[in-house]
Amino acid sequence: MDQFTYRDDQLYAEDMQVAAIAERFGTPCYIYSRAALEARFKEYQDALAGADHLICYAVKANSNLAVLDVLGRMGAGFDIVSGGEMERVIAAGGDPAKIVFSGVGKTPAEMARALDLDIACFNLESAQELEVLAEVAADKNTVARVSVRVNPDVDAQTHPYISTGLRENKFGVNTDEAMAVYRRAAELPAIEVVGIDCHIGSQLTQISPFIDALKRLLALVDQLAAEGITLHHLDLGGGLGVCYKDEQPPSVAEYIGAVRAELGDRPLQLVFEPGRSIAANAGLLVTRVNYLKTTEAHHFALVDAAMNDMIRPALYQAWLDIRQVDRGAQGQTAQWDVVGPVCETGDFLGKERELTLAPGDLLALSGAGAYGFTMSSNYNTRPRAAEIMIDGDQAHVVRAREVFEDMVRGECRLPE
Ligand code: LLP
Repeated sequence: MDQFTYRDDQLYAEDMQVAAIAERFGTPCYIYSRAALEARFKEYQDALAGADHLICYAVKANSNLAVLDVLGRMGAGFDIVSGGEMERVIAAGGDPAKIVFSGVGKTPAEMARALDLDIACFNLESAQELEVLAEVAADKNTVARVSVRVNPDVDAQTHPYISTGLRENKFGVNTDEAMAVYRRAAELPAIEVVGIDCHIGSQLTQISPFIDALKRLLALVDQLAAEGITLHHLDLGGGLGVCYKDEQPPSVAEYIGAVRAELGDRPLQLVFEPGRSIAANAGLLVTRVNYLKTTEAHHFALVDAAMNDMIRPALYQAWLDIRQVDRGAQGQTAQWDVVGPVCETGDFLGKERELTLAPGDLLALSGAGAYGFTMSSNYNTRPRAAEIMIDGDQAHVVRAREVFEDMVRGECRLPE
């Protein structure tokens, strides 16, 4: 069920009017639905029922503490890529025993902290990283559980910036090198080999690349077993796409069903790292129209959100649906370019959208719950937006709008 629907021409987030939320907390603001987050997570749980599994929500998609809290309470594990994300999970009450640590550039300090927390697994990305981790673990007299991130060289058929499983990408190690890394890992006393992982890209709309990758991983699992290296889990990463416009990604059930069928009766725990498919459609970005400006070439709607709040259109030419919060409002109907106040031509949220607008109107961008706030910045010294979590008929400010002092914290002038 969609948690953002119209009642009498008014957009609602669960049981609250979006216009009332915007009035109360100001714009631009992100609005998340707790029920939507829970429903998406439950789709994964249901699809994995009866299988040994761990769903590690990819924190980078939306790392707000309240989002992590909601998912953690449902039993989620977490996929992290930095010490900062690790501390967020802990601050949100997440279970360190369900953390997997991905990322190509883990530092010794991050490794040490993760070992102190006794996280589930380090997803290794290189032979060198293995050596560094072995040293950090040995210094602490402990053992690090590891998985090797394999780059299966499959084409995820998604935007090149978010495709990660091709030979030319910086991620993981190729299948030959993976064997060597495993052999080396197996002989290091401070290392325990527990899994294998991959992540081939994001916003995938077909199942076949996932299955191709899985096949390559399973071939490695068998090869390793033949050498006496038995794995406990297989982590297929994240990447399942969502519908922003007219994409038709497989459902979670179809995707997981295909993976389970391919896995057969191998006694491997299945790990997933979904980000977008949990959070994207659980969030809106709400913005107010400040000015309408028509030039020879374009109709511009100047809104109070900008590329610093939501960079996906500027960075990936991403298309996000833009809706009127009050569908009944009067105004000028045109094909509007919805643009922000930032001084860049690339600062747009959507182009040529047919909308009926008047200054002061509210617009809502859909699909903004993932890679929205987490990719926002203070560019143009713009305070980052407030984040609001809706839970039924309750609205919680889960991140206050920034003020000037937040933006200059840590800065100073030179001495006299
Ligand atoms: N695991 C790893 C190792 C990843 O690198 C990622 C995403 C995920 C899981 C989660 O993938 P998801 O289920 O969300 O597709 N900023 C881009 C997306 C970058 C994704 C990077 N890695 C965007 O806005 O489209």
